[in-house]
Amino acid sequence: MVVLVTGANGQLGQAIQSVVGNYPSIDFVFCSSVELNITDKSNCETIFEKHKPQFCINAAAYTAVDKAESEPEKAYVINVTGAQNLAAVCKLNNTILLHVSTDFVFDGLATQPYSEEAIPNPTSVYGVTKLQGEQAIQNTWKKHFIIRTSWVYSQFANNFMKTMIRLASERDSLSVVSDQIGTPTNAVDLAECLLTIITFDIRHSTFDHYGIYNYSNEGQCSWYDFAKEIFKVNNISINLQHIPTTAYPTPAKRPVYSVLDKSKIKQVFGIEIKSWKESLKTIML
Ligand SMILES: NC(=O)c1ccc[n+]([C@@H]2O[C@H](COP(=O)([O-])OP(=O)(O)OC[C@H]3O[C@@H](n4cnc5c(N)ncnc54)[C@H](OP(=O)(O)O)[C@@H]3O)[C@@H](O)[C@H]2O)c1
Repeated sequence: MVVLVTGANGQLGQAIQSVVGNYPSIDFVFCSSVELNITDKSNCETIFEKHKPQFCINAAAYTAVDKAESEPEKAYVINVTGAQNLAAVCKLNNTILLHVSTDFVFDGLATQPYSEEAIPNPTSVYGVTKLQGEQAIQNTWKKHFIIRTSWVYSQFANNFMKTMIRLASERDSLSVVSDQIGTPTNAVDLAECLLTIITFDIRHSTFDHYGIYNYSNEGQCSWYDFAKEIFKVNNISINLQHIPTTAYPTPAKRPVYSVLDKSKIKQVFGIEIKSWKESLKTIML
């Protein structure tokens, strides 16, 4: 079985690379943005023609949430045109597409975890383009899984955990917002989740569970709680203050609450999910 991974040098791409040893029966083809530019359809066609993958994991995206506010066209071409190109090429090759999306498709006004059926209402350019990317896939190719996830961190690439640890080495005190609530997701857990779906017997003719799924670690916290736990786990002592979002204005408006309901993915694929605190402890820096 051939699984092609786009955006291979990003955080999720590297996390997938870190677990390939658990899947000896899969031939992985990892493509960086240089080898496969998802905004170039003919590039996608050539790569698919060469490797003939049964599955494609799209780990490529425009993820600079704040920068997207000032370069919406760039975010659109990667998150929407790129997703559409992959869906079209997957259709041409009967390849099952696993695409990763975000809790930022929601406005954050809910008071209980968002199910897959909740109505999206993004509040940022990034969120809008990620939602449009989902819709482009849905309108193009039935055999897709769209996995919405949140607050992804790991030992790879840039993320909140690594930023906190870097800032703690540069400063004596740090202020982090405490009124945005969500769930951290260890990128390695997300990688294992995607590969659990792939190794599930979905090519069986009776399988009809394509569509949107939520996945994050279990539990919920604020960015402040997350930072506090990161410092605790890494034995870092720092004066950590909690502040409201209003004290840390950013170009992009983020959802105040974006906890995802994972019942569907647990029920359909039998996926067991670690709590965010438990998973954070597994990261060795
Ligand atoms: N990080 C989070 O907190 C978070 C939260 C929720 C959802 N997600 C979603 O999770 C997925 C993975 O995110 P991540 O954290 O791994 O992001 P990331 O570290 O920013 O990685 C994205 C990768 O996409 C590549 N890329 C950009 N434009 C491309 C193009 N035109 N063609 C091919 N590759 C391209 C980048 O390559 P270059 O570096 O060479 O440009 C980079 O390697 C994304 O879909 C993201 O929206 C992330």
